[in-house]
Amino acid sequence: MPRYPAYKKGVVDCTTPPDLNNVQGKSVVITGGASGMGEQATRAFVAAGAFVTFGDVNETAGRKIEAQLGSNAQFVRCDVTDFESQRELFRRAEANSPSKTVDVAIANAGITGADSIFYGEESGEEPQAPDFKILDVNVNGVIGTCKLARYYFKQHELTPGRDRCFIVMSSAAGYGDVPGGPIYMMSKFAARALMRCIRRTTFLDGIRACALAPWYVDTNLMSPSVVQHAKSKGVKFADAADAAGAMLRIVSDPSVNGRCFTIVNREEAPLGYYDMDVDDYPDGSRADEQQNILLSTSQRIQVRPEDQ
Ligand SMILES: NC(=O)c1ccc[n+]([C@@H]2O[C@H](COP(=O)([O-])OP(=O)(O)OC[C@H]3O[C@@H](n4cnc5c(N)ncnc54)[C@H](O)[C@@H]3O)[C@@H](O)[C@H]2O)c1
Repeated sequence: MPRYPAYKKGVVDCTTPPDLNNVQGKSVVITGGASGMGEQATRAFVAAGAFVTFGDVNETAGRKIEAQLGSNAQFVRCDVTDFESQRELFRRAEANSPSKTVDVAIANAGITGADSIFYGEESGEEPQAPDFKILDVNVNGVIGTCKLARYYFKQHELTPGRDRCFIVMSSAAGYGDVPGGPIYMMSKFAARALMRCIRRTTFLDGIRACALAPWYVDTNLMSPSVVQHAKSKGVKFADAADAAGAMLRIVSDPSVNGRCFTIVNREEAPLGYYDMDVDDYPDGSRADEQQNILLSTSQRIQVRPEDQ
């Protein structure tokens, strides 16, 4: 029987540091682990005593980090848009981790850029077919990570020493309106949607899920011009290391399920992250009623797939 209970509303305290004893010995898969928040996560989980398998398309950076981290980390060249490439990432994580398990999967790899709905044509030109690269990485890639995580998690019993935790990288753009960026925005709403779906099957699957929705973080994601532009508007950037801290907080506490933490400048939160608490509706509201009906009908899990 899974030991994780069904999802319940409730804000997580993010002012106390994580208990890293609970992270020790876990086998952690991270996509996009060779730069930015993924790299910080790779380093932080290794420092906390986990075995980390990190994948990235940037092989040069990945190999360099692997060499620095020693035997508790392995790099696997992985393109999340290629399911077989992700399969190899998870297979190697299970095969080479001391525990022969996958306990935690962090779907972090992502890209951004100019939006092909808004840009790409001179005025008067017939439109080109949109570029789906952002969706391929940020949505299709994440679906692949989630599917493999579910399979590999279920290869081991859910016992007190083991975890089955899925973390997906959304964004402030998954919670707010971003003019001119519909495709990136859609991709990050999709990440949030995935977390909200998985948290509702936790009681069936024994898999918990959380999301991160970072505010601006100065990584390789955005071009120097975009970073400079945001800074010129007075935006206070968050620290990539605090995203890793938020992931450790989630992994260290098996009672945390179905929550989204934002990553912010430490002027706003003592550890650089807090529970956003915007993925539930007020008790008794119409939206809450509809939510409860959706939970009780749940046709996707109650009606046979061939009849849907
Ligand atoms: N930096 C921000 O302000 C910010 C804010 C909110 C959300 N995010 C999200 O956080 C995540 C991490 O971004 P970051 O800021 O650390 O950026 P980053 O560019 O520093 O790191 C992303 C990593 O993903 C890798 N990657 C890209 N495409 C890949 C693919 N197809 N397969 C495997 N790896 C791939 C890159 O090579 C890179 O190493 C992304 O999902 C991003 O959308 C970033």
